[in-house]
Amino acid sequence: MALDPGVLDEVLAGLGASPRTLPAKLFYDEEGCRLFAAITELPEYYLTRTEHALLAAEAGAIAAALPAHASVVEYGASSEDKALLLLDALAAAGAAARCYVPIDIAAPALTALTARLAARWPSLTVAPIAADFLAPIALPTAAPPPRVGFFPGSTIGNLEPAAARAFLARARATLGPAARFLIGVDLRKDPARLLAAYDDAAGVTAAFNRNLLVRLNREAGADFDPAQFAHEARWNAAEGRIELHLVSRRAQRVRLANITLTFSEGDSIHTENCYKHSVQGFVALASAAGWQARRVWTDADATFALHLLATGGADESNLASPGIG
Ligand code: TRP
Repeated sequence: MALDPGVLDEVLAGLGASPRTLPAKLFYDEEGCRLFAAITELPEYYLTRTEHALLAAEAGAIAAALPAHASVVEYGASSEDKALLLLDALAAAGAAARCYVPIDIAAPALTALTARLAARWPSLTVAPIAADFLAPIALPTAAPPPRVGFFPGSTIGNLEPAAARAFLARARATLGPAARFLIGVDLRKDPARLLAAYDDAAGVTAAFNRNLLVRLNREAGADFDPAQFAHEARWNAAEGRIELHLVSRRAQRVRLANITLTFSEGDSIHTENCYKHSVQGFVALASAAGWQARRVWTDADATFALHLLATGGADESNLASPGIG
């Protein structure tokens, strides 16, 4: 399969820029999805299990703070595990979701998720959208307000702060009146622990990172030698982010779509950012996007935060729905 022409344009623009970058959505081909699922199970990768435990522990309180019979819209739904905690808690509170809209760029994974949910919960309306959640999203009529956005996994941290703000503002418009937005955010902590999470001993994250090059070889006819690029995780203290890089091990040339890329030893392709927002920092970001920070739940070790945002403002009173306020 050839890369979508629009994505190829983004690839060429990123590799032509300085520093060189690649679009993060490129990570999620079939092999990338498999590797990412493996990352979430790694001993060093605390994020998924910490967020899952936090959601499980606070599900009742979270459900009580959400509108009844809402449409639940998940941004970047690579697995249904966390959404099920939310959907189960809403149902247990007598406030069962009206429908569940998982949005993800990986269409095959989304189809598999939808099939698993249909088998496990036949009465739940599931309306998947295979799309880049950063693009404008048209929600189906099956998903009326009130809507609850769900954005777990600290995926918000993979966006530059300006892009995160723009995404939050767009989601506010998409989710409509009296919306709530539940967002999982990995907190700042000991850089050694952060670095280990993104550079595991088994090399799964390295394989995930290099898979970008494997994919460009297969889908864009490039001739990268992935073994000649080292996986590196760096803590950028000034920006408050983990950076992932692919660093050229030697001087080399790579062909891609009729252009030649020249790398010196040590030249990097900057492939990902994982911003670590403090509670205050994230509240400020959400406020700048027009959201009102309602509540935040963190685990006892302050590893991870779940933020509940509300639209606030006049639209809150426009919708007669129990459980809002
Ligand atoms: N959002 C998660 C994180 O920042 C998952 C993730 C996104 C990730 N890109 C990644 C994990 C690259 C490892 C490598 O951790």
